[in-house]
Amino acid sequence: MDLSSKVIHRSALQRLENNHLSLPPSGPPRAFRVGVPAFDLFPFGVWAKLNAAFWRKPDLQQLCYGAPEGDVRLRGLIAAYLRSSRGMQCTAEQIVITSGAQQGISLCAQLLVEPGDGVAIENPGYRAAAHAFAIAGARLHGVSVDGDGINCAQLNGLTDCRLAYVTPSHQYPTGVIMSLARRLELLAWAERTEGWIIEDDYDGEYRYSGAPLAPLAALDRQGRVLYVGTFGKVAFPALRLGYLVLPPALVQAFSQRRAVDVRHSEVSTQAVMAEFMAAGHFQRHIRRMRRAALSRRNSLLAGWPEGVAGVGSLPNVVAGLHLTVAVDTQAREQQLIEKAASVDVEINPLSSYWLPDSSPPGPAGRTGPGFRGGSRASHPRCTGPPGKGLAPVAATRRYSPRVPGPDRACAVPAH
Ligand SMILES: Cc1ncc(COP(=O)(O)O)c(C=O)c1O
Repeated sequence: MDLSSKVIHRSALQRLENNHLSLPPSGPPRAFRVGVPAFDLFPFGVWAKLNAAFWRKPDLQQLCYGAPEGDVRLRGLIAAYLRSSRGMQCTAEQIVITSGAQQGISLCAQLLVEPGDGVAIENPGYRAAAHAFAIAGARLHGVSVDGDGINCAQLNGLTDCRLAYVTPSHQYPTGVIMSLARRLELLAWAERTEGWIIEDDYDGEYRYSGAPLAPLAALDRQGRVLYVGTFGKVAFPALRLGYLVLPPALVQAFSQRRAVDVRHSEVSTQAVMAEFMAAGHFQRHIRRMRRAALSRRNSLLAGWPEGVAGVGSLPNVVAGLHLTVAVDTQAREQQLIEKAASVDVEINPLSSYWLPDSSPPGPAGRTGPGFRGGSRASHPRCTGPPGKGLAPVAATRRYSPRVPGPDRACAVPAH
């Protein structure tokens, strides 16, 4: 740090000190690691074949520098997928391929934020997005989330905000699905203030019941929504492949900005994903992942014990790969996390998702500090019976005939 403070500008260093991602946990994922899909279900054999076919006889033109906005065929296939699965009337020309959602968010921050600009983000929310805006010099405004999504009354009260970052299909981390009325209210905010909305649809493929609501990008009539997508939740995060769907007038600037950063994404991952989609493997895989996640959600709900001291009841989980449960106090939250870790289970404290200068509301009937665990879908080992290291009180009756008593129930988040 000594040398870096001599070399790197102090303000840049300070911003990084306050805004960096923590290192990922080491080792293979343990039960309930959040953000990790059931990637053991990925058809690696198919992927390997397509990859080998690409490299056996690469198109020489593809080995030169390519288009910064990405592989033209992949852009077309993503647009077609979003038209049919999300009702978005987008074209290939609006798609910019990125290295995952994070780069999409970061590009938005680089291009839409001037130092000192106000940016509204959900609080609690996705801290990695907040970091990207803060690094770009934004003044972050944490806006609360209620049962309908981001609180638009609060947002309307902010006078210096031109950007709002939201996760409408499954709010991260609370799991709230933004209602249609709130979506329209948010779009009206953008129109009235000439602001921009960044819609992060990070796990939109996982909807279990009821018709999915149209994304903001599909409802947007004013070209004010920048849509962020990722392959990380359907394939696996290390693929580092995602995309932005942009209002047409913004595409060129994003593409130029991306070229300065990285020229473009690596060629084979894009080409192989394009073939994977064109041949129908992607759609099949989504269906497989959704079925698996649904069955794991059902197991979790069926086996969750009632009446654990200091722990609220389970929410109604209709989407996504994780859920949030309210816990009375932060001390209890910490206890549960430690207990879970002792049986090889990862759950996250909800208290860590609040902006640093804001404090989680107390337990009085509202979302309190809680713990969060990915549903069983987030853990590859959960495709089979629990391993030795997993908690003995399985959430799945299928796996364990024992009914947990209140003490042991603390370990139940294992599943
Ligand atoms: C809200 C949110 N957005 C995006 C992502 C994933 O981003 P990426 O595609 O960069 O891995 C995550 C991952 O956990 C997330 O929780």
